[in-house]
Amino acid sequence: MRRVLVVDDEENIRLVLKTLLKRHGYEVETADGGESALALVDSFGPDVILTDVRMPKISGLDLLATLKAKQNTATVIVMSAYGSIDLAIEAMKAGAYDYVGKPFKPDEIVLALRKAEERETLRRENKVLKEQIQKENQFESILAKSASMTLIFRTITKIADYKTTVLVQGESGVGKELVARALHARSTRKDQAFVTVNCGAIPENLLESELFGHKKGAFTDANADRRGLFEEADRGTLFLDEIGELPLSLQVKILRALQEETIRKLGDSKDIKIDVRIITATHRDLAAEVKAGRFREDLFYRINVLPIVIPPLRARKEDVNLLVDHFLVRNNARLGMQRNAITPEARKLLLEYAWPGNVRELENTIERAMVLCESDTIGVVDLPDRLREALDPIHAQLASGEMSIKKTSAAIEEILIRRALVKTRGNRTRAAELLEISHRALLYKIKDYRITSLS
Ligand SMILES: Nc1ncnc2c1ncn2[C@@H]1O[C@H](COP(=O)(O)OP(=O)(O)OP(=O)(O)O)[C@@H](O)[C@H]1O
Ligand SMILES: [Mg+2]
Repeated sequence: MRRVLVVDDEENIRLVLKTLLKRHGYEVETADGGESALALVDSFGPDVILTDVRMPKISGLDLLATLKAKQNTATVIVMSAYGSIDLAIEAMKAGAYDYVGKPFKPDEIVLALRKAEERETLRRENKVLKEQIQKENQFESILAKSASMTLIFRTITKIADYKTTVLVQGESGVGKELVARALHARSTRKDQAFVTVNCGAIPENLLESELFGHKKGAFTDANADRRGLFEEADRGTLFLDEIGELPLSLQVKILRALQEETIRKLGDSKDIKIDVRIITATHRDLAAEVKAGRFREDLFYRINVLPIVIPPLRARKEDVNLLVDHFLVRNNARLGMQRNAITPEARKLLLEYAWPGNVRELENTIERAMVLCESDTIGVVDLPDRLREALDPIHAQLASGEMSIKKTSAAIEEILIRRALVKTRGNRTRAAELLEISHRALLYKIKDYRITSLS
């Protein structure tokens, strides 16, 4: 950080600063106003811009705004004469790094520059570190550092190249599709098509022709020959998402395609050879579906050769903070925002919540919080009520579906007593006061509910 641009309309100040800074080893250029400063910013490329706030025509504030609009990253330090301190504060709010009062002692200027330099070094180191951590915990676009996910990354690497069918299982939103895409991207088929079909989203009568294609005239609306998704995916990968939703009639046909590696278009009399790697996914317990008679056993064994089970997010809490930071950075860039921090309380809530909708729910929650947030720091108020409610035992009790007044009041009474004891650090007299019951009644209830510790 050696290049400093001094901007001031007073020639005397420019001269003094130029001499001073040169003596301290800086490369210095000077400008007599905002206009000439902007011209120099491009040609000189200063690391620091030291500018007066109050100048005719373009003020220091205008200069700052223009630099920001041009996404210039130079550190700006403003100088303000006695009486224009509020301008300096405004400049700091607009993104200036520091300000120096006029008249200044030479040391003050040099010190401000040193501080800016230190901050810049830290910022750069921080950025490098962040990128490094990101890289270490990133597999394609899947972010995770938990042991269970690291194991999955290793499995993906190991099996990517084989044509063997993979079954990806996991709750909704855990990243099944990401894993399927990573398998394709790491395979020798990566330059061929990756075709996905959601077996649950297409009506049964359309799904067959969607998958296998049809000949002209195969059915009323078949005005021309049509290629199916198996053919589209030839030499590439076909991702059969939500395979658990596949109707039994089509399960047979998929099984045949897998076994024979051929398909037959609707209304056609001959088979077509296909070379497709099949990846399937489901949020259902397919073994249980087999038991219930909703999924063919033979197809289950055919697709379940290499199972990958992605654990729910609540079973790999180490990944939560990583994902939160990732979504913050990504949305800041995507939505043009500057939400850079989260209060410790909000982080705690994000960490403790059970995330039934897994990473997708987390992703949506962060985006919503960033939009609602009115400062640069996300707090508990910006998070949806359901997060707080889910962690409140009284709410959980009420949400449990229990209808008995007796059982419900007893459960809530116990929660309140425990709460009062924690709050008073075990002082039963004060706890009884908070609960508005007699000391004797409290002792009786403590015994009744077998409360022994303070948690
Ligand atoms: N480990 C992860 N790192 C980054 N993003 C993730 C991760 N896991 C999931 N996501 C994101 O969460 C969302 C849901 O992921 P994906 O669609 O792969 O889940 P899924 O298991 O297929 O869900 P569903 O069962 O609802 O189809 C996507 O936006 C995805 O980018
Ligand atoms: Mg999916």
